[in-house]
Amino acid sequence: MDRLFYEVPSLARKKDAIEYIEEHYAYQSNINGCGGLDHYLSNYEEWLLKLEKDQTANPGEGRVPAKTYFLVRESDNKIIGMTNIRLALNERLRKSGGHIGYGIRPTERRKGYNKINLYLALEVCQENGIEEVMLSCYKDNPASSRTMLALGAKLIEEFVMDGKEEQNYTIQVEEALKEYESVYAPLRQKGEKTIGK
Ligand SMILES: CC(C)(COP(=O)(O)OP(=O)(O)OC[C@H]1O[C@@H](n2cnc3c(N)ncnc32)[C@H](O)[C@@H]1OP(=O)(O)O)[C@@H](O)C(=O)NCCC(=O)NCCS
Repeated sequence: MDRLFYEVPSLARKKDAIEYIEEHYAYQSNINGCGGLDHYLSNYEEWLLKLEKDQTANPGEGRVPAKTYFLVRESDNKIIGMTNIRLALNERLRKSGGHIGYGIRPTERRKGYNKINLYLALEVCQENGIEEVMLSCYKDNPASSRTMLALGAKLIEEFVMDGKEEQNYTIQVEEALKEYESVYAPLRQKGEKTIGK
């Protein structure tokens, strides 16, 4: 299978990134993990500045520090998915949302890519000192819950918010990275790649 890696968003990816979001509209798909890019399609440069600010956000002021990545396929350098990793939780995220938001573009789904994506996200969490990751999804989103379960997630609560049934899961980061290393480590390039601005 193709290897995937995380790339830090840059100006060089402007066209690819906009195309990535537009594909979701064409397929009438939900968009997750894109760090708000869908609201900045006509101002990509401002989105890049927002991502820089996100990394140093102060939890005391309501926002938590977060990192956003493109998930890129090594063989053709294509953006396959996006992930937003919250490096701390506030009260709202502890109720629903958790540490990691992810998405895979509609034409690349059901190929096992999101499981590799979550493995990479857990590595980022470990590098940032997060020992236990919390993740949330709607109960009627098996693609998301099965991704979590494939990486050893435990269901901790089910609840209804805004009329929708949701689930919260936790993953013990070190344990999961060790347990699934033989499966997912060969399918990813560790670390983040930065390309020219
Ligand atoms: C959720 C999402 C990221 C999954 O991406 P993906 O690359 O298709 O997932 P994978 O191929 O890695 O599959 C992960 C698991 O989900 C299962 N799965 C994937 N799509 C599924 C579907 N439509 N129905 C049921 N199970 C599905 C896979 O079989 C696999 O489980 P398994 O290992 O037990 O077989 C993708 O569907 C998506 O971007 N959805 C829209 C955004 C979203 O919902 N994000 C999550 C918000 S919580």
